[in-house]
Amino acid sequence: MSFIVAVDGPAGSGKSTISKMVAKKYRLTYLDTGAMYRMIAFTSIRDGVDLDNIEEVVNLLDRVNIDMKDGKFYVDGDDVSLEIRTPEVTAIVSKVAAIREVRVKLVDLQRKISEGKDVILDGRDIGTVVFTNADLKIFLVASPEERAKRRVLDFKNKGIDEKFEDVLSEIIRRDEFDSNRKESPLKKAEDAVEIDTSFMNIDEVVGAISELVEEKR
Ligand code: DC
Repeated sequence: MSFIVAVDGPAGSGKSTISKMVAKKYRLTYLDTGAMYRMIAFTSIRDGVDLDNIEEVVNLLDRVNIDMKDGKFYVDGDDVSLEIRTPEVTAIVSKVAAIREVRVKLVDLQRKISEGKDVILDGRDIGTVVFTNADLKIFLVASPEERAKRRVLDFKNKGIDEKFEDVLSEIIRRDEFDSNRKESPLKKAEDAVEIDTSFMNIDEVVGAISELVEEKR
């Protein structure tokens, strides 16, 4: 029997940092589903795909090969781990993620990858769509200002200078888009445990989730 942890929440709520740490602690396979949407967004830019032309999008979905290994992300064999985090990809990924055909393909892939494994997945629709029967569902939230602050710091640590105001408005724009789209909008599953991380440090959040994991396992 596999054990499934679903972690959802808005952009910058700490999902990936926290999920990676919980994965390591409990030896779960970690799946960053946002990165999968980013890989499709990256490829659409690479190939000059018109996102309003569904035929072109479906064509792309049929030919592209996306893969993940040891925390790295590959499109058609090329390591695109850095490219999928650029502002260009971030700017269009919400639009890509709102396309039904894209979601059908990626949700199917997420379920296949998880088959028979103990997994922790982070995203927007894991508890509401991908694994409605997950053993544990977490919904991470934090104020937009706090999330923007963390993102700026993240970028800074990578040697990239981003203005707080720009990151904040991008976060608010993406929240709005992800929450109001027709296909699998970002929302808390009824049976998810909500954790507001605005005033918690990483260890405290991991600690809170660890208690829940140990309860459920
Ligand atoms: O978590 P992230 O910022 O890397 O996610 C990138 C985008 O992908 C985000 O704007 C919403 C979308 N996404 C989604 O719709 N469903 C998921 N399960 C994960 C991400």
